[in-house]
Amino acid sequence: MYVYSAPAMRQRVRALRDALAGLDAGIRYAVKANGNGAVLRLLAEEGAGADIVSGGELERALRAGIAASDIVFSGVGKSDAEIALALDVGIGRFNIESRAELDAIQRIAAARGVTAVASVRINPDVDAKTHAKISTGKAENKFGVSIAEARAWFDAKAQWPDVRLDGLHMHIGSQLLSLDPVREALARMAAFWKELAAAGHAIASIDVGGGLGVRYREGEQAPDAREYADAIRQALAGFGGRILVEPGRWLVAEVGILLTRVLLEKHGQARSFLVLDAAMNDLLRPSLYDAWHDIVPVGAAAGRETAVYDVVGPVCET
Ligand SMILES: Cc1ncc(COP(=O)(O)O)c(C=O)c1O
Repeated sequence: MYVYSAPAMRQRVRALRDALAGLDAGIRYAVKANGNGAVLRLLAEEGAGADIVSGGELERALRAGIAASDIVFSGVGKSDAEIALALDVGIGRFNIESRAELDAIQRIAAARGVTAVASVRINPDVDAKTHAKISTGKAENKFGVSIAEARAWFDAKAQWPDVRLDGLHMHIGSQLLSLDPVREALARMAAFWKELAAAGHAIASIDVGGGLGVRYREGEQAPDAREYADAIRQALAGFGGRILVEPGRWLVAEVGILLTRVLLEKHGQARSFLVLDAAMNDLLRPSLYDAWHDIVPVGAAAGRETAVYDVVGPVCET
């Protein structure tokens, strides 16, 4: 069973909102971090919008009471049906990741007689210094397009008359424990925004993505929300449009726990095992990202005997 603290989650959103105070900034919660309906409803009550990457996430966000206009649609693989659904509900903004997607949005918007509002996802080619599987802002990654390609889109935007291309987006990776890569990527995006503005392209929205890391392991130091907001404030000083942030993990990871029971002890030939009723299907991060999660007894640990075990679950991977 997963247990989440509503007050702790509210505290997180409010802390981020406070840190961003003074900026015309909106929070677009990355639904992939936790798409549970109760979580989404709570975040909606706190005024957060949503960052989605599928039609399913779009429907969940709408069902939770998040206004379509407060939803942005990211992701490299949007299907025609998902694009059509997003246009039909009046989604706030597409974060476009490829030329093929831009063409598809143009075709589908034209067929429906509507204008799609869109940002280009820039791939700033910055090393986020996080796990390779959640590093998304290097040139070799599948995400976003180069600044050179984005420049060409803006210069030729009359080719896509039913797409209002007036925003920039980036997301360089997740579980960022240092703000240096964020600052570097923001600087590249800010320089590009200024270049576009000087060339006469109105930029209404800059979405800086998510990525703010959390502390999983003793000794790890997660960045502070205020420092993060200051980095945005500094890089985008003078920007007159709307700033969007897409945190996922930072809002929910540290406010929840997975509760599990010990089913039995097994003393094997070479090791001792503690077999739980939760397995890697309930908590995929260690096997997917080599992630560390503390395992702590629910009751008082003081005075108990200690022993070393391999802690395992009932699914069939070793
Ligand atoms: C486009 C986009 N925005 C935001 C996020 C959220 O990242 P995080 O949970 O690290 O804040 C992700 C995560 O993969 C993402 O792909």
